[in-house]
Amino acid sequence: MGIHLSIRMHSKLLVLLLFHLVVANFVDSLQQLSCHAEESSALLQFKESFMIDKSASRNDGAYPKVSSWKPAGGGNSSCCLWDGVECDEMTGHVISLNLSSSYLYGSFDSNSSLFSLVHLQRLILSHNNFNHSQIPSSIRNFPSLTHLDLSWSFFSGQVPSEVSYLSKLTYLNLCCNVLENGAPGHPDQLLKLQPSDMRSLVQNLTSLETLYLSYINISSIIPVSVTNLSYLTSLALRECDLFGEFPMKIFSLQNLEVLSVRYNYNLTGYLPEFNRSSPLISLRVGFTMFFGTIPSSIEKLNSLQELDVVQCNFSNSLVPSALGNLRQLTYLDISKSPFGGPIPDSLANLTQLTVFRVSTSSLTGPIPSWLGELPTVIPWVNLIGLRLSFNTFHGQLPIPPPSLQEYGATNNNFTGEISPLLCNMSSLHNSFHGMMPQSYNNRSSLRMIDVSHNQLQGQLPWSLANCVMLEYLVLSNNQFRDIFPIWLGTLPELKLLAMPHNHFNGVIGQSRTNVDFSKLRILDLSFNNFTGEIPALFPNITVNKSTYMFEKGLQPLISQTTNLKATYMYTEVAYDFNGFYVGRSVDYSITLAIKGLDLFYSRVREGFAAIDISNNKFEGKIPEFTGNLKELRSLNISSNILTGSIPSSLGNLRNLESLDLSRNKLSGLIPQQLTKLTFLGSFDVSHNNLTGPIPQGTQLTSFNSTSYEGNPGLCGDPLPKKCGNQEAPQPPPSTEEDSDSGSARTLEFDLKFCLAGIGSGFVVGVVLADVAITRRQELFLKIVGMVRLMIRKG
Ligand SMILES: *[C@@H]1O[C@H](CO)[C@@H](O)[C@H](O)[C@H]1NC(C)=O
Ligand SMILES: *[C@@H]1O[C@H](CO)[C@@H](O)[C@H](O)[C@H]1NC(C)=O
Ligand SMILES: *[C@@H]1O[C@H](CO)[C@@H](O)[C@H](O)[C@H]1NC(C)=O
Ligand SMILES: *[C@@H]1O[C@H](CO)[C@@H](O)[C@H](O)[C@H]1NC(C)=O
Ligand SMILES: *[C@@H]1O[C@H](CO)[C@@H](O)[C@H](O)[C@H]1NC(C)=O
Ligand SMILES: *[C@@H]1O[C@H](CO)[C@@H](O)[C@H](O)[C@H]1NC(C)=O
Ligand SMILES: *[C@@H]1O[C@H](CO)[C@@H](O)[C@H](O)[C@H]1NC(C)=O
Ligand SMILES: *[C@@H]1O[C@H](CO)[C@@H](O)[C@H](O)[C@H]1NC(C)=O
Ligand SMILES: *[C@@H]1O[C@H](CO)[C@@H](O)[C@H](O)[C@H]1NC(C)=O
Ligand SMILES: *[C@@H]1O[C@H](CO)[C@@H](O)[C@H](O)[C@H]1NC(C)=O
Ligand SMILES: *[C@@H]1O[C@H](CO)[C@@H](O)[C@H](O)[C@H]1NC(C)=O
Ligand SMILES: *[C@@H]1O[C@H](CO)[C@@H](O)[C@H](O)[C@H]1NC(C)=O
Repeated sequence: MGIHLSIRMHSKLLVLLLFHLVVANFVDSLQQLSCHAEESSALLQFKESFMIDKSASRNDGAYPKVSSWKPAGGGNSSCCLWDGVECDEMTGHVISLNLSSSYLYGSFDSNSSLFSLVHLQRLILSHNNFNHSQIPSSIRNFPSLTHLDLSWSFFSGQVPSEVSYLSKLTYLNLCCNVLENGAPGHPDQLLKLQPSDMRSLVQNLTSLETLYLSYINISSIIPVSVTNLSYLTSLALRECDLFGEFPMKIFSLQNLEVLSVRYNYNLTGYLPEFNRSSPLISLRVGFTMFFGTIPSSIEKLNSLQELDVVQCNFSNSLVPSALGNLRQLTYLDISKSPFGGPIPDSLANLTQLTVFRVSTSSLTGPIPSWLGELPTVIPWVNLIGLRLSFNTFHGQLPIPPPSLQEYGATNNNFTGEISPLLCNMSSLHNSFHGMMPQSYNNRSSLRMIDVSHNQLQGQLPWSLANCVMLEYLVLSNNQFRDIFPIWLGTLPELKLLAMPHNHFNGVIGQSRTNVDFSKLRILDLSFNNFTGEIPALFPNITVNKSTYMFEKGLQPLISQTTNLKATYMYTEVAYDFNGFYVGRSVDYSITLAIKGLDLFYSRVREGFAAIDISNNKFEGKIPEFTGNLKELRSLNISSNILTGSIPSSLGNLRNLESLDLSRNKLSGLIPQQLTKLTFLGSFDVSHNNLTGPIPQGTQLTSFNSTSYEGNPGLCGDPLPKKCGNQEAPQPPPSTEEDSDSGSARTLEFDLKFCLAGIGSGFVVGVVLADVAITRRQELFLKIVGMVRLMIRKG
């Protein structure tokens, strides 16, 4: 009976419960249709406090989520239905706000209406532009917050200590609030975190699973209490100015999958003996002072996909062959390490590799011929990046798989010819013995090839014409012996072709159509044996910035600020990491001879275009350079056997900064039109047979007299030789459309322009970051010349 009774009571309870549930659900759906009015208006106020600006979110898939938000009475009256808003099903309170990539631009104050949404559990504001606002300390109003993402949003200043009150956080991402300052990998950090706040943060936020603080200036040691974060799966502290000893116990965190402490140059530490229970997927300690050895127990990390130990102090004398057992590895960067010896054969088993870099180690020996055939075909069929540069590898140049996008093999001792298997997909496919590369699509992915400074010889294989994505081809300083590969003109993306210091020879034909070499911007044929007339290889040089920036809608490593800064030529290599897109921009770099000096430019300004065909045997006249080359910044045709006079059309190349015509057999007068080249910082016509006066009263007289020497017939300033009466300076032609009569007014304008450029730290027309100082000096000299002229004229 007692039992019976209790069952009856239970069923009563059940009915009550069911009733309650039904009613609650009904109430819920009502609430969902009309969210709390004060929350709705808080959201609308929040929306109104920002501008919608497309440049605030540059990543893929961005759109203005708030534009669907409408006040009550409109179609979407419940804020719970608004894009990016989520309400609690029971209470109707807003619990999640995701306005990631929503073009929000403006400042974000501590008194923002947003902070009345006290029930928030998730707040995602990444990829907007909060115009250097501080992270508001009112963030403490969200005690229920579990998920906070303020990455990539231009927050600046101190991270408020109030963040450490959010003790329920499992996800905290304050990464990447950076400004592009020019140098890739070294952006300006905008956020700072006091060491004491860092300590309370990791002491208090014990539920953290993800902690991303990369690019925040922390300037402290890593607090040991990080090791108490037992739920931690991802820890990213890239470039935080951390120093001192890395707490070894972090490696014992049972759930840790991702660890990055790259670019903390003063952080020391060592790798532990690893065991099989570690779930590590990504281990990045590059550019730190980690020391000791890479233990062979690393092979026990059977989930490891990324390993980066670039430029550490590890003392292994050989590349550890244990790495070959990390079968899941997709990314391996062991560059700038002291390893010697060959690449171990075991690495042949790393079939998942997409990036392999061993540049500037001391690796020797031939590239192992794992497939038992020469030339070596690399068996990593998913490879997209391969850097072998600055070692002493010898033997044949290895042939990359068709998936490869970036290939650097410079400064080694590779010999022999480039195999026609490069970009010859059909034969390459056969040699994989049935292994099918994942990205195999019957066309090459190669965008960049740099094989400079080796001992490669012979002719270029025609298969290069199959590299249809190729943008950048550098063959400098080898022993190639061939005629000019005019067939490269069909490559639709080719922007840079450098082949100086080889034995190329013969007459260069004119390109067949004006679409050949249609995107070429930099051509270096210097120090070869070319003969015949100067070819017209450049149909048109046009600058279209948007085609370079964000070309594929990818998230660049460092996002652009809203103010326009210089952009640089790069190509984007991209691969899929665990479903996450990983992109990396690879800058164009070149060595160019300017003023007789070989200068290495680690980056190339977007608008730059240059031709260097010096030190060949080109003959005949300098062709008429027409207006379609007006973007040209540097023209070097010195040390050939050119005859005739300097064409006045050179004056149309208005952006020239450097013009070298020296050491030819040019005769006649220096055309007055060259005075239109107001950006010239370097000018050389020495060792020709020029005659008559140097155009006086122009910037041409501000150059060093060495620019004119070796022309017995030349006279006038800056040469010591005075002009006779019949050689008196001619009046400049007044028929030109812009009639730049060399008046003081024109010069004054130019001078102001130049000074303005210097004042703002932007050196006019400067191409290249590394020589900015040299160029400033040149400009300075030029300005001194102009001032001198003005004083003289005035
Ligand atoms: C309501 O918002 C949704 C997106 O959240 C949108 O698709 C829909 O068109 C809106 N309706 C009205 C009437 O604005
Ligand atoms: C936020 O919204 C974006 C779409 O705009 C989505 O891709 C992302 O996964 C969302 N984030 C979270 C944490 O829900
Ligand atoms: C962004 O900040 C700058 C400098 O503080 C200020 O001049 C500008 O008005 C701000 N823009 C917005 C939309 O708040
Ligand atoms: C918040 O404070 C700023 C000044 O700090 C003020 O300009 C702004 O109007 C205030 N906003 C609100 C919503 O009170
Ligand atoms: C830790 O969080 C609690 C509230 O959750 C707060 O009272 C305390 O001040 C916080 N401690 C620190 C050091 O921030
Ligand atoms: C590393 O430490 C040295 C000396 O302690 C200091 O001079 C240097 O600025 C530090 N470098 C960085 C990147 O913090
Ligand atoms: C690759 O792995 C297989 C199977 O584990 C092994 O037998 C072979 O020796 C490995 N190859 C190399 C070069 O280490
Ligand atoms: C390159 O090879 C040549 C000839 O085999 C040799 O003399 C030279 O020392 C090698 N250079 C390097 C850097 O290994
Ligand atoms: C150019 O050709 C001449 C004679 O044919 C030869 O002596 C010279 O070495 C060659 N120069 C180069 C750079 O190939
Ligand atoms: C080159 O530019 C001129 C105008 O400057 C234009 O008419 C011509 O179509 C262009 N040619 C090519 C191949 O783009
Ligand atoms: C230089 O030009 C003059 C005529 O202007 C000519 O007589 C002379 O032979 C030339 N000298 C050389 C070395 O070409
Ligand atoms: C001109 O160039 C020579 C050689 O480069 C140098 O010695 C001299 O100082 C320069 N003169 C001036 C005025 O710059």
